[in-house]
Amino acid sequence: MPLDIVIGAQWGDEGKGRVTDLLAREAALVARFSGGDNAGHTVAVDGETFKLHLIPSGIIHAGVTCLVGNGAVLNPAVFIREIEGLAKRGIDVSPHRLKIDRRTHLITPVHKALDQARESQRGDKAIGTTLRGIGPAYAEKIGRSGLRAGLLDKPEELAEAVHDHVSTHNEILTRVYGAEPIDAEKIAAEFAHFGQRLAPHLADGSVLIDEFLKEGRPVLAEGAQGTMLDIDHGTYPFVTSSSPTIGGVLTGLGVGAIQVDKVWGVAKAFSSRVGGGPFTTELDGEDALRLRGTGKNPWDEYGTTTGRPRRVGWLDLVILSHAVRINGFTELCVTKLDILSGIPEIPVCIAYDTDGQRLNYPPADLSTLANCQPIYKALPGWEEDIRECRTIDELPENAQAYIAFIESFLNVPIRLVSVGPERDQVVTV
Ligand code: IMP
Repeated sequence: MPLDIVIGAQWGDEGKGRVTDLLAREAALVARFSGGDNAGHTVAVDGETFKLHLIPSGIIHAGVTCLVGNGAVLNPAVFIREIEGLAKRGIDVSPHRLKIDRRTHLITPVHKALDQARESQRGDKAIGTTLRGIGPAYAEKIGRSGLRAGLLDKPEELAEAVHDHVSTHNEILTRVYGAEPIDAEKIAAEFAHFGQRLAPHLADGSVLIDEFLKEGRPVLAEGAQGTMLDIDHGTYPFVTSSSPTIGGVLTGLGVGAIQVDKVWGVAKAFSSRVGGGPFTTELDGEDALRLRGTGKNPWDEYGTTTGRPRRVGWLDLVILSHAVRINGFTELCVTKLDILSGIPEIPVCIAYDTDGQRLNYPPADLSTLANCQPIYKALPGWEEDIRECRTIDELPENAQAYIAFIESFLNVPIRLVSVGPERDQVVTV
C-alpha cells in the first residue's frame, strides 16, 4: 500500500469481502468505489458472520476509517439499517470513522420501482437484477438528473429535489409501466429524516483519501461485483450499471493512477454467477449441487443480497485472462479451494470453441459468446480435507498443481488461497 485495490475477477461473489478483511489489517482507510446495496459481502470472524451490503468490510476492524465513494450509489434507508445492525453488535459506526462522499448518488424508492417495472417489462429477457434500483440510479446520474448525497445537509434543497424527482418519475411509472404512483410527500419526509441522520457522515472523499495518502497512511479500495458484470467489459446487457473494474476505482474515488500500488484480483477456484446472461462453463444436476452446496451453510452458493441460488460452473481461465488484461492484476487470490476436495478430476476451461474457431478471449458479441463451447483441460483432483492447511506445502500435491496451473496460465502470482470461511483459513503463498 499506499493505495491497494481489490477487484472481483469473475461475476461477483468471489469472496472479496474476506480478502478485504485480511488486507484491511494494514489499512487506515477502506473505500467502496462502485455499486450499491446490490453487493453482499460476507465476512466470518470467530464464528460470527457479518453480511454487509453497503458499508465497506473494513468497518469490522477497529481504527479503520471507511468511505462510500462518489462512484457508489447509496440507498439511505439500507445504509441506516446497516449502521444500526453493526452498532448493536458493538462496532463503532460513528461519523468520524464512517464517511459518505458528497458526490455519491442516492437511491430512492422511485429507482427501486423503476427497476422492478423494467425487469417485469423485459419478460424472458430480464437481466435478473437485484431489484435494488441500481440501474435506474446510475441512469439518472449519467442523465444529469440524479440526487447526490451532498443534498442531505440542505433540508430545503433536498425537499425540492425529492419532490421534483418523484413527480417526474410518477408520470413514467404510471403512464409507461402502468405502475402505482409514489407518494412524494411521504418520500420527502423520509429523506428529511435520512438527512438529519446522515449529514454528519458527509465528506469530500477525494480530499479525504488524498490526506491519508499524503500522511503515508495506507488506503484500500474495496471492489463490489466483478469484472464480467462491468458495464463496458462484462456480458452486456447482463451486467450491473457501474464499473467494478480498475477504471471505476480512479473515477469512483477521485484518485490518480500514480497512487496505485497493488491490484488484487480475487477469483473463486470455480465459477458462479447470479442473474441471466451467458455462462460458458455452467453446470447443472449433481455437479452443480456439489459446487453450490445445499444452502445450509452461510458460505454455500446462495446470493447474500437476494438469497437466489447461484449458477455454478468450472473455472474459466478465458474469463480470468480477460480480467487480468483489463485490470492489470499484480496479485491474485483464489478462494474456496476447499470446495473442490473430493472431485477426482477437475476440468478447467482454457479456451473457447466457436464454430470450430479457437478463441482465447470472450467475444464482445453476446450471441457469439452464448454459442461458445468450453475447451477443457482436466486436472487431477485430491481427496484430502484441506481446511486446516496454512502453507502451500501443506496442500496435497494435486491442489498445489491446480494453483500452479492457474498461476502459470495467467502469469500473475497467486498470493493467497482460501480454504474455508473463517478469517484464518487462508494459505499464504
Ligand atoms: P443490478 O446490479 O441489481 O442491476 O443487477 C445486474 C446484474 O448484476 C444481475 O445479474 C445481478 O444478479 C448481478 N449482480 C449485481 N450485484 C451483484 C453482486 O454483488 N454479486 C453477484 N452478482 C451481482
